Parts: sequence; C-alpha cells; structure tokens
Amino acid sequence: MFIPLHLFIIFILLLISQLHARPADLSEGSRGTVHNFFQGILLGLSDVCYYASMDLFCAAVLDPLLCDNGNDYTEDEDMDDDEDWPPTKVEVVCVGLGRTGTTSLAIAFDMLGHHSYHDDQLLELAFHDDEDDEEMFEEIGKKGYDVSFRTNAATAVKYNAKVILTVRVSPESYARSWAKLAHACIVSLQRIPFKWFARVQEFYPTLEDEFLYEATTLGNNPPQPEQYMNETLLAMVYVDYNERLIETVPAEDLLVFNVKEGWDPLCRFLNIPIPVDNKGRQLPFPNVNNAAKKAGEMLVYDLVPYTWWIVPALLIYALICFVKWFVHRFGGACEHPRMTLGLLGLLGNVFGGGAHESAALIETVSLVGGDEENLKESKLGEMRKRTKVRILRG
Ligand SMILES: *[C@@H]1O[C@H](CO)[C@@H](O)[C@H](O)[C@H]1NC(C)=O
Repeated sequence: MFIPLHLFIIFILLLISQLHARPADLSEGSRGTVHNFFQGILLGLSDVCYYASMDLFCAAVLDPLLCDNGNDYTEDEDMDDDEDWPPTKVEVVCVGLGRTGTTSLAIAFDMLGHHSYHDDQLLELAFHDDEDDEEMFEEIGKKGYDVSFRTNAATAVKYNAKVILTVRVSPESYARSWAKLAHACIVSLQRIPFKWFARVQEFYPTLEDEFLYEATTLGNNPPQPEQYMNETLLAMVYVDYNERLIETVPAEDLLVFNVKEGWDPLCRFLNIPIPVDNKGRQLPFPNVNNAAKKAGEMLVYDLVPYTWWIVPALLIYALICFVKWFVHRFGGACEHPRMTLGLLGLLGNVFGGGAHESAALIETVSLVGGDEENLKESKLGEMRKRTKVRILRG
C-alpha cells in the first residue's frame, strides 16, 4: 500500500524538477512531433505541480514556518540568481510578439556569451508590470543583462540599442500558434484548481492584458477582447505591429529575423563570428518551445480543471491505507495503546472497510477510553455505534 504513495510522491517531485525557465535540450524542435507533444505534457504537469506545491502547500503548511508570505516571487528569480554579474548596458532589444521564436533567440544569445532577459515562462510574466519602461531598461542593465526581451522599441531607439524583430513564416502561422495558447491561458486558468492558486491569479491580469487587449488591438482602434481567438484579427494585428515597428526603428539598427534562418543573419547583424564547437563545427541554432510542445502543455492546462480531483482522492486513499497499516502493525501490539491510536484505527476502518479489525479495535479503545457507560456518551461511543451498525450490515 505504501508503494503507490511513494511512487506518487516521487512522480510529483520529478515533475517539479522538470520545471526550468529555459529548456535544456536546445535541439528539441528536431525530435519529432510526438516526442515534443509528450514533453509539453510533462512540462504542463510540472507547471501545475509547481503552482499547487508552492501555493497550496506553502500557504497551508509551510507559510507560517518558512515561506515568506509569498512575497518572494514578485521579484524576478533570474535576476536574483545572477546578482554577481557586473552591471552593464542593454545593447540589444528583441521586440517580436509571442510565439515568434523568442525563447530560441534568448538561448542563442546566451550561447553567444550574452545575458538575455526574457519572459518565456508564464510564471515570470507578472514581474515589473507597473514599472516605467525606461527605468526598467536601465534596471535590467544594472543587473548584468545586455539583451532585453522586455523593452519597447521606442525605449530601444532612445538608448541607441539594436533592435531585433522576430517574425514567423506567415501571419497565419503566428495567429494559429497564438490562438492555441489563448484558450488555455484565458479560460482554463480561471477554473478550479487554478482559481485557488494565488500565483496564477496574480499573473492572470497580465495574461488578460496580453491575450485580450494587446493581441486584439489593431492600430489605433479600440481592443476587441471578445475576438481574442479570431485568427483573422490576430494575423492582422501581427502584420500591423510589425509594420509600425519597422517604421519606428532606423533600418541600420533593425534586424527582421526568423529563427529558422539560424546564425548567419544574427551574427552578421551583431558583427560577431558564428559559434563553433572545439572541432570547428557550427553549433546548431536552438530550436525550442515548438508548436507540438506548447500544444501538449496547453492540453494539460485545459484538462486539469476536469481531472484535478483525482490527486486529492489518491492522497486521501493513501492516507487511509497508511492508517490501516499503522494500526494493524502497532495497534494491537501495544500494551497501553493511546487514545489517538484507537481513534485513527477507527477512522481508517470506518472509511477503509475492514469490519473484523474494527471489532478488535473497539475493544482496545474501550480499554483506553474508560468504562462502557462513559464510552456510550462520548463521541467515541457514537463512532462505535456506527461501526457496530457497519459490522452488522457487513
Ligand atoms: C474576425 O475578425 C475579422 C477582422 O476583424 C472580422 O472581419 C471577422 O468578422 C471576425 N470573425 C468572427 C467570426 O467574428
């Protein structure tokens, strides 16, 4: 009976350990659709476990003892981790919309020896939302990052930074990819259990801004939040956004880049050599967070509101099994069994079945709990009566 519980806990821990801000396998995009899809599912499960463990477990159990009342996560974890980098200035700003290969590009920059500040994880979206863009631009530099994915083109132009606009093969392919995220992020994250996760609800307004408003605002028109899944509109917004950007940034400071083109255009633009391994072979350009993986991840988000109850049910079942085993193992053997032990045993048996054992346990409890008369009046007596009924029925 313990094996399932152990396996379950190990499984959860493994899932949590899956959670990385950036994928470790740089060529995961070439692993095939099925592989990527399942990888996405694993990532989605690990997201959920992370929210559940941080929000529910921390709040209920650890918070009073250890957790810092949840204030920690409003600061960027990346930034905290890397405080030892010397301050620098952001030289490159990447302004492509979501799902245009920004995570792959962020990894490419890190391979080139830069430090890029990117928000490829839902978890990190809430950070610094209220900060002024220029202040944030300087702040990112002070923390040692020289590439920013969180800066507007206008700020980049003002500070003479180079600008990279990531694009996809076609507006339709962007719209399709974006719409796939939209349902999970807007609808599913408002359902139970996500509704219970403080962290999710904290970054949810940021998602609303992005999916309902920014992605549906065509030029100077008002946003059309109810059209957030309309791929025609999404494609039009994408085209309009890119055109405006190309007008804003001086041509010599701008690279319009599809990550499928690889190192060549990027390194030419940055005036640096293409990275090679120690045998002089060109390193593969990172290819991560592809459509299949995102589809797997979002599928989990969409399914969890219907299936989450299985986990507490399993935990309760495991607890009952444990109590039964515990009582069976130690209950009868003790010379002076404690009241709680008897109670636990009763509970375990009432919920978990095992009528014959109950009878023996009741004897134990009555030994501890006092004489028969007292027992009848106490709560314990109530339980005993009920158990008796059970035994009779059984
Ligand atoms: C989707 O958006 C386009 C452009 O705004 C609009 O013409 C079209 O009617 C919309 N489709 C639906 C189903 O609302």
